[in-house]
Amino acid sequence: MDKKALLELNNGLKIELPILSGTIGPNVLNIKDLYRTTGLFTYDPGFVSTASCSSSITFIDGDEGVLKYRGHDIADLAENNNFTAIIYLLLYGALPNLEQHKKFLLKIGELSKVSEQVINVIKAFPKTAHPMSILIACFASLSAFYHERYGNTVNSENLDCGISAIAQVPAIVAMIYRHIKNQEFINAQNELSYSENFLRMMFGDAFNNDKSSLFVKALDKIFILHADHEQNASTAAIRLVGSAGSNLFASLSAGIATLWGPAHGGANEAVINMLREIEQSGDIGKFIEKAKDDKDPFKLMGFGHRIYKNYDPRARILKGACNEVLDKLEQDNKLLKIAKGLEEVALKDEYFVMRKLYPNVDFYSGIIMNAIDIPSNMFTPIFALARTTGWVTQWYEMMNDKEAKICRPRQLYVGE
Ligand code: ACO
Repeated sequence: MDKKALLELNNGLKIELPILSGTIGPNVLNIKDLYRTTGLFTYDPGFVSTASCSSSITFIDGDEGVLKYRGHDIADLAENNNFTAIIYLLLYGALPNLEQHKKFLLKIGELSKVSEQVINVIKAFPKTAHPMSILIACFASLSAFYHERYGNTVNSENLDCGISAIAQVPAIVAMIYRHIKNQEFINAQNELSYSENFLRMMFGDAFNNDKSSLFVKALDKIFILHADHEQNASTAAIRLVGSAGSNLFASLSAGIATLWGPAHGGANEAVINMLREIEQSGDIGKFIEKAKDDKDPFKLMGFGHRIYKNYDPRARILKGACNEVLDKLEQDNKLLKIAKGLEEVALKDEYFVMRKLYPNVDFYSGIIMNAIDIPSNMFTPIFALARTTGWVTQWYEMMNDKEAKICRPRQLYVGE
């Protein structure tokens, strides 16, 4: 039987609103016809109670701390697969067999070449630029090439346009890093794994040491954990831009701009800066008190999440990976000790307990990247590199969704 909710307005008007059920997760009240039938809009700043689309890519149960890609639990995926298998899973809906994986790697290799014009965009930026500003520009410039070839139409049988974004982004991010460091660019070695190729394009010969396989494994895990996360702010931005018919690369550029913010992906850089400040001050309590002070805009970076009201499963996996990497490096890592100390204090503090604030994905990822010697201003570009897969997948899903419309919210007008 179809489920419905009854809405009774104080003018006596009663209307039935259909309740939609997904495969799992909360039911959804369908208010699509509310304005037409009642003249009312809903009001939901920040989309706290609003589902903007239906999707079959990623599932989150924030109360239980569950995250699944295409029905597979994130912990299993991170333990048993490499990142290119996860790219395949997100794009095509199933993990690849050996043959499919091999063919897919060849495809990534074929589509990975970055054009000279995009390289010139990188070179045009001052060395003092934040890498995210250069990354936004690179994707905006890529929209010029692909507009000719694909325009704003997509063929779901041919994902080359999207795969080319996923294939080029490691080289682009590595070149941005080397440009800022005033170092020569390093050519891709497509016979290497996606993550190893990226680290070699970043660090070149300096990466040839006994720790490289440990670092490749750790970074690959970071990529897997960041690959997609349902309708987060940057994905919503990409769907919004794409809903107007703009091309994929223009949409990706908007997603990267959104990710840069410290309330979103920019938090990974902010966390490490905060941990360094705590290290200098030696006073965790002072930072906890600042975060609790409602007159102070400071927030504990890497803490809290719109959806997770439980431990973020990605943070749990990364905390374990942090321990593993730092143990193997035999480093006495002060930042990890501070992070664990901060977490311990916060998780016992009534303010954080009442609000269900737990470490999120950005809390521990930076400590691993710091151990790999990746500078903190590259943390968010690396997040963008991994999330490109999710963005592309979500963009294709929207483009093939018969119910998708241009995203055009309304407002509560309070002006003259
Ligand atoms: N430190 C201190 N207090 C916090 C924090 C925090 N990190 N996060 C939330 N709160 C408080 C808020 O002040 C609010 O308190 P109030 O009810 O007394 O007003 C309450 O907890 C609820 O928080 P909201 O801001 O309403 O939650 P929202 O869902 O809008 O924001 C967000 C979520 C943006 C992630 C927020 O928790 C935050 O800014 N965290 C720090 C930045 C961060 O780590 N961002 C990365 C998120 S993961 C990602 O995007 C990849």
